[in-house]
Amino acid sequence: MKQVKAVAGMVMIIFLLCSLAGLSSAETDQHGTHKVEPGTPKTSSTKRMALNLPPAAQEGLKLTMREHLEAIDAIVAALAREDFAKAAILANEELGFPKHHMAMQREEGATFPSAYHELAMAHHKAAEDLGAVIPTKDLKQILPHLEQTLHACVKCHQVFRLKE
Ligand code: HEC
Repeated sequence: MKQVKAVAGMVMIIFLLCSLAGLSSAETDQHGTHKVEPGTPKTSSTKRMALNLPPAAQEGLKLTMREHLEAIDAIVAALAREDFAKAAILANEELGFPKHHMAMQREEGATFPSAYHELAMAHHKAAEDLGAVIPTKDLKQILPHLEQTLHACVKCHQVFRLKE
C-alpha cells in the first residue's frame, strides 16, 4: 500500500512537471524581453532556441513527443500496479535508444544543433538507466531514476522550442 501511495504521489509530480515543461508557457516567453523574476520556472523566463525544422520533421517530432508523454504515463501506471516487467519494457523500448531511431526516421534527416542531440542522448540514457533499475522492484531506487528521466524532458524543453 505504501508503494502505491508513493507512486500516486509521483503521478501528481509528473503532472506538475509536464505543465512546467514549456507546454503551457507560450504566453510568457514570446518576446524574451521581460525581467527574470526569482522563482519563475526557467522555461518561461529564458529565451529558448528555435529549431525551425521543415514542416514534416516538425510534425514527426511532435508525434514522438506526445508518445513520450504517453510512455511516461504508462510507466507510472505500470509501477502503480506493481507490474515491474511492463514498466521496464516501456522504459527501454518507448523512451530508450530504440525510440531514438524511430524519432530520427520521422525527422527525415533534418539537422539539429549538437546541444539538442546531447540532450536527446541524455534522455534516452536516463530512460535505459530507469529500465535497468526497475527489476529491483525497489521504489527507493526506482523513483530517483523516474525523476531523472522526467528531468531530462524538462531540461530539453527549457532550452529548445520548435519556432520563434
Ligand atoms: C532533446 C530535446 C527533447 C527531449 C529530451 C524531450 N522533448 Fe518534448 N519537446 C521538445 C521540443 C523542442 C518540443 C517543442 C516545444 C515548443 O516548441 O514549445 C517538445 C514538445 C513536447 C510536447 C508537445 C507536443 C505537441 O504535440 O505539441 C510534449 C507532450 C513533450 N514534448 C513531451 C516530452 C516528454 C514527456 C519527454 C521526456 C520523456 C520529452 N518531451 C523529451 C524537445 C524535447
